[in-house]
Amino acid sequence: MTQTDVTILAIESSCDETSVAVVKNGNTVLSNVVASQIKSHMRFGGVVPEVASRHHVEQITQIVEAALNEAQVTFDAIDAVAVTHGPGLVGSLLIGVSAAKALAFAHQKPLIPVNHMAGHIYANQLVTPMRYPLLSLVVSGGHTELVYMEKDGSFDIIGETRDDAAGEAYDKIGRILGLPYPGGKKMDEMAHEGKETMHFPRAMIKEDNYDFSFSGLKSSVINTVHNARQKGDDINPYDLAASFQASVVEVLVHKTLRAAKEKNIKQLLLAGGVAANRGLREALSAKMALELPEVEVVIPPLSLCGDNAAMIGAAAYTEYQQKHFAGYDLNAHPGLVLGE
Ligand code: KG4
Ligand code: ZN
Repeated sequence: MTQTDVTILAIESSCDETSVAVVKNGNTVLSNVVASQIKSHMRFGGVVPEVASRHHVEQITQIVEAALNEAQVTFDAIDAVAVTHGPGLVGSLLIGVSAAKALAFAHQKPLIPVNHMAGHIYANQLVTPMRYPLLSLVVSGGHTELVYMEKDGSFDIIGETRDDAAGEAYDKIGRILGLPYPGGKKMDEMAHEGKETMHFPRAMIKEDNYDFSFSGLKSSVINTVHNARQKGDDINPYDLAASFQASVVEVLVHKTLRAAKEKNIKQLLLAGGVAANRGLREALSAKMALELPEVEVVIPPLSLCGDNAAMIGAAAYTEYQQKHFAGYDLNAHPGLVLGE
């Protein structure tokens, strides 16, 4: 490694994945170890915060060691320790924050707090250099936002959901269909085997803003299922998934295109767990190629869509350059907002 290389050890523990990564210069992943707890939460049909914290405590030390081993580095080669300090579950965040503080103190390295949503956006920097100004559609289990970035490290949320996040709607409908938690991925697979035989609402699609709403759609789908069950009618779950997905994708793509056309952007980035959605990836790429071919569309590989620490290491590189370091009084911020 040359003198100017910056190597960051990054920790992510905001929800139900304990992850540690070693990332060089914000764009090269030396290791990215992700321990998912999903099996422990499945039987409860959702993430149980206390169970999540306990798993993080049990895992974190080993995952730090595994990430260093896999990257074939020791702490001598690490320039800073980065950690997600929000948004997320407070008990989960605290485990990562405490571990990062201890490591930064023990090895006398700067401590870098990173916003989880910034991490999702910067996952794209592990694919290709980010070019500004850009727009990012961030879709996860807790957030659905359109984020405009004029330059590196600046975030302007120009639109967001007024109620449920897209991933949340997927998971709740998955639950009604009896799918294991989280149902988003399975719903996506089922959607590709079904047809859009039911028409569900496209909320706020005609409104002159960049905001979203998914709770009406969710209720409409759930009512359709309940009504059919009460009448003893069969409902094809594949067609239901396809019809629901058609509505979500159409609204997300429509609002993103509207914003992309109105802002003079060089790149459009897709980010967050729902960025793994095949229907969304395909529709967004196709529509952009047709209507805005001059804008580069960047979509992370599936391994970088869900929660992982490499994306935190990528976002931390910008913070490192701007010397945005924290003291040992760093705390978890469950409701942290991007850009604040
Ligand atoms: O970003 P993420 O891993 O965690 C949060 O920060 O929330 O996102 C998780 C969400 C879950 O709601 C999950 O069901 C959804 O992403 N998800 C999907 C797909 N894969 C994951 N939703 C739709 N289609 C998928 N293929
Ligand atoms: Zn996430």
